[in-house]
Amino acid sequence: MRIEEFSTVDLDENANGLYIIDQTLLPNETKMLTLTAQEEIWDAIYKLKVRGAPAIGVAAAIGVYLAAREIEADNYDEFYAAFMEKKAYLASARPTAVNLFWALDRMERSVAASKDKPVREIIAVLHDEAIRIRDEDAEVCRAIGKHGLPLIKDGMGILTHCNAGTLATVRYGTATAPIYLATEAGVKNLRVYCDETRPLLQGARLTSYELHENGINTTLICDNMASIVMKNGLVDLILVGCDRVARNGDAANKIGTSGVAILAKHYGIPFYVCAPSSTIDISLATGAEIPIEERSPDEVTEMWYKERMAPRGISIYNPAFDVTDNDLITGIITEHGILRPPYEDSIKKIFGNS
Ligand code: MRU
Repeated sequence: MRIEEFSTVDLDENANGLYIIDQTLLPNETKMLTLTAQEEIWDAIYKLKVRGAPAIGVAAAIGVYLAAREIEADNYDEFYAAFMEKKAYLASARPTAVNLFWALDRMERSVAASKDKPVREIIAVLHDEAIRIRDEDAEVCRAIGKHGLPLIKDGMGILTHCNAGTLATVRYGTATAPIYLATEAGVKNLRVYCDETRPLLQGARLTSYELHENGINTTLICDNMASIVMKNGLVDLILVGCDRVARNGDAANKIGTSGVAILAKHYGIPFYVCAPSSTIDISLATGAEIPIEERSPDEVTEMWYKERMAPRGISIYNPAFDVTDNDLITGIITEHGILRPPYEDSIKKIFGNS
């Protein structure tokens, strides 16, 4: 099944639930879920059934709209207080991808701007804002693709890490958008290398799956093979996604990304981060302030194995993200164009003085 034939994340057709593809089952099983209860939606975000920064944002926007419909309130103040509780609950599902908070804040602003409306109209406003967040995501990803397209030439080898593809967004992906658009534009003989991305295997299970399904020449490698692939001259360009960019251009992405960037510098390969402007958190001065999610030890020791593959009682450290220092990043491809160092200045240009 071609990935574009189903939605990663949407409001279900009867507007009764959050409609997602369960990413934990891919590539072996394609199962769509319609989630209605808030606990189910929280759990789907926490367990990565829906994952990737932009997709998490869209899921949260739809989730909080569905939650708001359940609120029984006679006036704005009561409604707003209950809405803020629902918002805080969904915001607690994961800490690193700023799109979760960005989307929920947007939903809150649309409530605050509707102060004078009756509750039923505020619900309609929330519906429209969630749909707008969904639709903008596809447009923004396509624009990232358009700006990244000139970097891609016939015969290139491109390496990516984790899944910043269609599955992590509404459509096109961020890091994959330039690849999909290049293919659409007739660029020939592209080769894409996917890091498998331990421990949750987003590269193996999701990126290599969606690229392969879409007819792109894809080679899966273990994370520790990236160096030899680069050394052997097989990689001309690196494109990765991002979960949060600080004001100075430091960028948090899936664990292992900063190692790829260090290797890229060693081998002189351009390293680009692809990120919608919604992933830039101008409230943070540097990447040191980005909260890094730590996940369960079993993801390292047993999740994909027939039996436990580590001694019992051993200490496990399982950070889900790392921060790539800005001086390792050749450019940040956004919907507004490619930002270049110094990022403090180029980021300021797209946000103005806000
Ligand atoms: O833990 P995950 O799978 O949600 O992590 C996802 C990533 O790190 C992606 O690269 C990032 O969110 C960019 S998605 C366009």
